[in-house]
Amino acid sequence: MNRFKGRSLCVIDDFSKEERLYLFRKVRELKKAIKDGDDEKRDSFRINDPDFGIYEVFLEDSTRTKESFRNAAEFHHAKLTEMSTDNSSFNKGESYSDTFNTLCGYNNRIFIIRSKVEGVTRHLQEECARYAERNGLGFTPVFINAGDGKHEHPTQELLDEYSFLEDNDWNTDYLHIALVGDLFHGRTVHSKADGLTLWSKVKVDLIAPEELAMPEAYITKMKENGFDVTEYPSISEYLKNGDVANKWYFTRPQLERMGEKILQKQDELRKSITFREEFMSLLPENTKFYHPLPRHKVHPTIPTFLDETPLNGWEKQSINGMYTRIVLLGLVAGKIGDDFVEEERPERKNEEEWIVEVTPENKKTREVSEGVNPIRNGIVIDHILKGELPEDIRRHMILMRRVMGLDGYKGGEWVSQSKDGKYKGIIFRVGHFDLSKKEIKRLAAAAPGCTLNIIEDGEVKRKYRTHMPPRIYNFSDLMCTNEACISNESQSEHVGAMFYRTPDNRYKCAYCGRVHTFKEIFKH
Ligand code: CP
Repeated sequence: MNRFKGRSLCVIDDFSKEERLYLFRKVRELKKAIKDGDDEKRDSFRINDPDFGIYEVFLEDSTRTKESFRNAAEFHHAKLTEMSTDNSSFNKGESYSDTFNTLCGYNNRIFIIRSKVEGVTRHLQEECARYAERNGLGFTPVFINAGDGKHEHPTQELLDEYSFLEDNDWNTDYLHIALVGDLFHGRTVHSKADGLTLWSKVKVDLIAPEELAMPEAYITKMKENGFDVTEYPSISEYLKNGDVANKWYFTRPQLERMGEKILQKQDELRKSITFREEFMSLLPENTKFYHPLPRHKVHPTIPTFLDETPLNGWEKQSINGMYTRIVLLGLVAGKIGDDFVEEERPERKNEEEWIVEVTPENKKTREVSEGVNPIRNGIVIDHILKGELPEDIRRHMILMRRVMGLDGYKGGEWVSQSKDGKYKGIIFRVGHFDLSKKEIKRLAAAAPGCTLNIIEDGEVKRKYRTHMPPRIYNFSDLMCTNEACISNESQSEHVGAMFYRTPDNRYKCAYCGRVHTFKEIFKH
């Protein structure tokens, strides 16, 4: 079975480290075959089917990604279509899912999409798979993210990793890299938080002024992945540090995505991330510069006098774009990849229980909370936001009342103090409650760590302790706070929000990757 056939690439983590190393081996083989004039080997990479439909849909400008994919599709002798988005029915308010379902129905297998809307390829991967199934199309449509807003650019990450390896004798032991420029908006550097796990040991120096700094969630991710991460406000400050990287990855200030306030400071910001001749002597031996490009013709952060120097790694990097994308298309089309040997995968641990019924056996104490005794029939939700400030607990209980639909009942809520002196919230409601598992899951999502007491005839009939669910979805009032996300209601795409718990107990949007606390995932 071909492990790659029908796979989408929405974020770099969709391909494991071993899968990417395999892809890079194939790129090496292809480049060598072309260089050596080995036509038979070169042709073994081709899809070679004029009916195999590849669609390019670019809703943001592009030269390299679009043209390298176009040339890659032509290499494959496949049917390439570039959708003309200026006069499509997008302009009549058609949704992404209706548009791409339609194109799948015309026997198109692979879609390459660049959009401002974050998470759009993940949504379409799910949506169009269902369309293909219910219409008996007989294939799984593949979606390749060619850059989605500020989120990720996984195919750029592939060619970047390939270029670093090529320039480093294929060594995967250690990488020391400086990421320089607009780290806030730069989706290519965001893909590096997971992408650089290809190397066993990674040191990342982040060089950007505060206004363009790497978002906290990506820094956290890098640290969780074991990278040694340090931030610097400018190149000149960075070069005072004794340990300078021999790989520099520049990104362009994305002025089109910045507000007026930041634009007023653009000269100062550019200066802090632009390389100057006086810095040359401070670079370690064998340093290489990379850039996903484009480079601004008036304000290049890698000045053009460096083009003819050994620092120039960005030209080969750009050339590698086409070869990497040829191999990627060949893999997801199922043309190559049969000889991939699956790595041993760690066994998935069973998800821990996130709603635990407290029975007499696992009850720590027989004491009941202060709200329980006065109620004959009803519920008491206790230990809400234990340890937080009273005003935060009160504010959160207002949200919980709405999330749990508790406003129509008699009862009340207050902030109390536990024996250990910590504040906690308590909500009680009077009446007969028959909470379903889904409703208790809502409670676990809205207030992990609380306890739910169900009281009948003055007795605690059932008691549950809630923990953070590993995945939260299927509630209509969940919403990702990122307005650029496909699942945000401002996009009107009717995509239900879904979140995964992160190792640091927050919730990451399944589409755009934005990280939230549990207090932020329900509509306020
Ligand atoms: N590197 C990159 O994405 O370039 P384009 O915007 O020209 O596609």
